[in-house]
Amino acid sequence: MAERIEVLLTEEEVDRRIQEIGDQISKDYAGKQVHLVCVLKGGSFFMCELAKRITVPVSIDFMSVSSYGGDTKSSGVVRIVKDLDESLKDKHVIVVEDIVDSGRTLSYLLDMLRSRGALDVRLCTLLDKPDRRVVDVKVDYTGFEIPDEFVVGYGLDYDQKYRNLPYIGVVKFD
Ligand code: IMP
Ligand code: MG
Repeated sequence: MAERIEVLLTEEEVDRRIQEIGDQISKDYAGKQVHLVCVLKGGSFFMCELAKRITVPVSIDFMSVSSYGGDTKSSGVVRIVKDLDESLKDKHVIVVEDIVDSGRTLSYLLDMLRSRGALDVRLCTLLDKPDRRVVDVKVDYTGFEIPDEFVVGYGLDYDQKYRNLPYIGVVKFD
């Protein structure tokens, strides 16, 4: 059965919101340097766009954890597949995610990163599905709160497809 994609947030809407978050972060971290930690692969498109809009000095690093297989349901299993290259010591860290769903991945990740000597660790996500939360996580910067639907685009995939869509779409199976 082939799926179809319905637009939820247009490219213009997403870009405008990323600019707003970039402005906010630039204000909040005035006079400081921020270290963006991208959670691969989904967070990569968002992080690049966000980084371009931040006006204070920025450094970046990447990590990869596994929580989803080829399915649309969270397994609850979190494993570090690729760790950071650089130390977080004495850095102002912002973890950049594509979406917070159950919160399981982030809750585990934030606890782990907070034990590594950063000055502070905040969380920035492009999308948030608050209705799906199982574990409580504090989100510092949110692009959009969205309903409980499976979305793709702007880094988010369905079975590794659709990450390259420049907008956010809902996957429909009819
Ligand atoms: P959590 O641990 O349940 O919060 O899962 C977070 C991760 O699940 C995200 O970083 C995504 O990789 C994936 N995920 C959750 N919801 C969606 C969705 O609607 N579309 C694509 N991936 C999703
Ligand atoms: Mg992710």
